[in-house]
Amino acid sequence: MLSSKIAQIFALVAGLIIIPAHASLTQRPKQADLPLPSRVIAQLNETPTFLENIAIRENGDLLVTMFWPSANIYLVEGPYSNAPKLSILHTIDNANGLNGIAKTGLDTFVVSAARFQDLGTPEPNSTALWEISGQGPSARKIVDIPEAGLLNGMAAIPNIAPAVLSGDGTAGVIYRVDVTSGQHEVVLDVPELKTVSGHTPNIGVNGVKVHDNYLYWSNTDLVAIYRVPIDSNGYPVSGAGVEKVAALEGAAAVDDFTFDEQGNIWAATDSDNTVVTIFTNGTQVVTVGSPTELTIASDTAVEFGQTPQDSHILYITTAGGIVNPVNGTLTEPAKIVAADARNFY
Ligand SMILES: *[C@@H]1O[C@H](CO)[C@@H](O)[C@H](O)[C@H]1NC(C)=O
Ligand SMILES: *[C@@H]1O[C@H](CO)[C@@H](O)[C@H](O)[C@H]1NC(C)=O
Ligand SMILES: *[C@@H]1O[C@H](CO)[C@@H](O)[C@H](O)[C@H]1NC(C)=O
Repeated sequence: MLSSKIAQIFALVAGLIIIPAHASLTQRPKQADLPLPSRVIAQLNETPTFLENIAIRENGDLLVTMFWPSANIYLVEGPYSNAPKLSILHTIDNANGLNGIAKTGLDTFVVSAARFQDLGTPEPNSTALWEISGQGPSARKIVDIPEAGLLNGMAAIPNIAPAVLSGDGTAGVIYRVDVTSGQHEVVLDVPELKTVSGHTPNIGVNGVKVHDNYLYWSNTDLVAIYRVPIDSNGYPVSGAGVEKVAALEGAAAVDDFTFDEQGNIWAATDSDNTVVTIFTNGTQVVTVGSPTELTIASDTAVEFGQTPQDSHILYITTAGGIVNPVNGTLTEPAKIVAADARNFY
């Protein structure tokens, strides 16, 4: 009792001593400033349009894949400037939609592509992986994967001759694809990758990331994020169990996600029109958007800027509510939003 009183007084005094003279007493706790300020940096001019994934060039420009209705890779130049510029960088042959994109080398990216009969339903035997390289850019088909269901998130395997891990959201497996040879195999097939029968949208594994020697993925139907340890070649460690990292609280879905420098997870909730931040201690908070606003209507993917100028900017792609209209009726063209997390930490 006495010692806790002393501790309190000591904490109070210590607190008083370390408060810098310029600190304002009316300054609110950081998280009271949510949602984070955000702005639209690029928007298409047609609906329905569905942007799906983001990767970042060395110079900080964004590459964004379109899921529907065209197999376009968009380029956003100067995403943190006053006048970001949107253009089509490349359209993949013999496809009308793209999913994952992963950076495998200097200005080299791998994308998954397919011909879709309708939104989210690839024609049989139409899925392929392509490599896009250089400013031009040049495009090379890596391999057809006729047995694929709906390929979705993709992650590069760092530190070796390039390979990617690609999640199949309907078959519920992870493929490992050697980018040079096209050789591919299923390296993970566990219940935590599968769809939930009767569940909408009936997508299992969605976002796929490699972080600190683990493969992380989100499962849309299970509304949760999982991980498994992998070796330096991208193979799951033999015998290692799958861990549930987080179940999203109060969200109906989870799409792609990313990590910040502290290791917190930032997840797009798609039909919830929000970004949820999951701290390393497990606490979750909505940081961008709102279920009833178009701010990030159907947000599909998130990525932090990778230059010193924009490492505090979270870029967010959207699908404009075309599957789940905001308030039941509102849709808009897909867009790319920049949320500013500078004052968040
Ligand atoms: C996929 O299509 C190719 C030709 O484009 C064909 O050679 C191959 O047999 C097909 N595979 C399957 C599984 O249908
Ligand atoms: C978890 O960490 C966040 C960010 O540092 C903090 O705001 C929150 O209070 C912590 N939650 C718990 C239960 O400690
Ligand atoms: C959606 O409905 C809510 C509740 O009526 C309202 O506050 C909000 O402004 C609506 N959203 C839009 C984008 O109109």
